[in-house]
Amino acid sequence: MLRTARLTADEAGLAEAAATLKRGGLVAFPTETVYGLGADATNAEAVAGIYAAKERPSFNPLISHLESFEAAKVQGLFDETAGRLAEAFWPGPLTLVVPVAPTCTVSDLARAGLDSVGLRVPAHPLAHALLAATGRPVAAPSANRSGRVSPTDADHVLGDLDGRIDAVLDGGASDVGVESTIIACLGGAPRLLRPGGVPREAIEALIGQRLDTGSEGGKSPLAPGMLASHYAPRAQVRLNAREIQPGEAALLFGSAPLQGSEQAQACLNLSENGDLKEAAAHLFSYLRQLDASGAQTIAVSPIPETGLGEAINDRLRRAAAER
Ligand code: TXA
Ligand code: MG
Repeated sequence: MLRTARLTADEAGLAEAAATLKRGGLVAFPTETVYGLGADATNAEAVAGIYAAKERPSFNPLISHLESFEAAKVQGLFDETAGRLAEAFWPGPLTLVVPVAPTCTVSDLARAGLDSVGLRVPAHPLAHALLAATGRPVAAPSANRSGRVSPTDADHVLGDLDGRIDAVLDGGASDVGVESTIIACLGGAPRLLRPGGVPREAIEALIGQRLDTGSEGGKSPLAPGMLASHYAPRAQVRLNAREIQPGEAALLFGSAPLQGSEQAQACLNLSENGDLKEAAAHLFSYLRQLDASGAQTIAVSPIPETGLGEAINDRLRRAAAER
């Protein structure tokens, strides 16, 4: 159990919050929509800590927060529409899902393995100051435990996460109270993924067309390839493998050797020490690497169903089922 510090909205509090983020800690901070639970988006283990603290049973892509549109352009590719939306509504309660830029530093885990990235430049002065002091993208879902309501002040955050995060930067009440509007600009017409702080009408007026709707996380069907809500490896995925067949790629967990892994086409260990946080941090990049080996099947050793293991297994089960 951590001692969660309540940091004041002054220079000392900001410096402490930024230092904590830079060393991989978790800091809740105010935005104009809701309080976010922040971690250095470039540090996959820190991002894994977000899921652990929230007790979230599955990985979904997180929004990375940036100081400016300039900083966002390092992470994502903005087509003409995305650029106009950013110019018009940033800083503010708008998130743009865009293709990753070659210079993107947001970790695979924060993107849930996707080739797109969710970016937002918040308007709250404290959020802005924190992002400027941190100097890197900060992944931040709402700072509540999974299944509870989004927090709009520091007391709500502590009610849910006291002892589970390093600090909360106390900036009083958030004023919008609903999350950001999420628009995907991935080529073709922009899509509304989640209604939120910027009204649909304001966006439609700017772009001069109706917005297509695709639900958050891609729950409703979208045109194939338009918005894969989950990264799916090309290879088959075989779970709870007790041995590796010749020609398979192996995704191991823990120190117990798996029979046949020496003849695997490729072999990676999510965490030799059996550390679920380390395993979560490696999950998407290792799946990609094993997929790139050309193996028909990726055999995965058993992973415990506790803590972050639940989200890891959820992701692997989807990968095994998605055909
Ligand atoms: O107001 C807000 O947006 C708050 C504050 C803290 O900024 N943040 C927030 O973050 O709600 P989060 O991480 O919970 O939002 C995640 C949602 C996902 O469920 C998904 O709909 C969308 O953002 N998203 C992010 N990246 C995406 C991507 N690459 N592709 C599709 N959807 C994405
Ligand atoms: Mg939330």
